[in-house]
Amino acid sequence: MVLSLSHRPRLLRGARLTSPVVAPVLRTPRLVLRPHRMSDAEAWLQIERDSSIRANLHWPERDRRQMITHLRDRTRKTVLWRADDFLALAVELDGEVIGDVSMHLRTVAPESRSAEVGWLQLSRYRGHGYATEAAEALLTFAFQTLGTRWVTALVDADNERSMALAERLGFARVAQTGCTVTFLTTGAPTIGAPTTDAPPISAGETVESRIDSPVIADTM
Ligand SMILES: CC(C)(COP(=O)(O)OP(=O)(O)OC[C@H]1O[C@@H](n2cnc3c(N)ncnc32)[C@H](O)[C@@H]1OP(=O)(O)O)[C@@H](O)C(=O)NCCC(=O)NCCS
Repeated sequence: MVLSLSHRPRLLRGARLTSPVVAPVLRTPRLVLRPHRMSDAEAWLQIERDSSIRANLHWPERDRRQMITHLRDRTRKTVLWRADDFLALAVELDGEVIGDVSMHLRTVAPESRSAEVGWLQLSRYRGHGYATEAAEALLTFAFQTLGTRWVTALVDADNERSMALAERLGFARVAQTGCTVTFLTTGAPTIGAPTTDAPPISAGETVESRIDSPVIADTM
């Protein structure tokens, strides 16, 4: 019997961290970054319907059911353990979800551990430094808790706001492949470290159950 890659038993799926890193709750001066919840649905629908988010992330047009499925998928992206595991956090301002930051664990070996980050924010909340503040917290988590040696961000060459954000965060532009610019940083920004509060895996829930969720192609 031939097993396809996506059905390889988890134990055969390559290197992993010594122990899983569970989605934290990060608090910054103005924001709370925490795992997505199904009760975020109304805010999530606004994010999905924000044409500048869809365009820049190359998300397809989804109907309401697909948007909810996408949110459900994100609620399950809460553990980093193996290369290519994905973690997404809702960005909350005064109790309202205004955006999202995310991270793919790319390589796990301690001496070359790396991750790729992503960010998005509802159009009406732009221009106040919220995305900068959220991404700073995520980067601090990456370098201080996850132990990454470097972090990348891949940005379309015409996405000026996202490139400006990467530069504000201290990323250097290191390559361009077609229309995609690669940014890289080797350290967390020095501006205010967030407080962290990683929720433990709850009783009856296994790490495997958090990771083994349906995967959709455009998780960024
Ligand atoms: C990329 C994205 C998150 C950037 O949003 P943003 O509003 O430009 O970023 P910030 O929230 O950090 O705000 C920065 C702006 O606030 C200003 N600002 C105000 N207070 C600030 C503070 N305390 N710290 C930093 N900037 C501050 C900055 O000067 C900057 O102003 P400008 O827009 O006039 O240059 C947003 O454009 C977006 O969601 N785009 C669609 C999705 C996307 O492209 N994702 C990335 C794919 S690679």
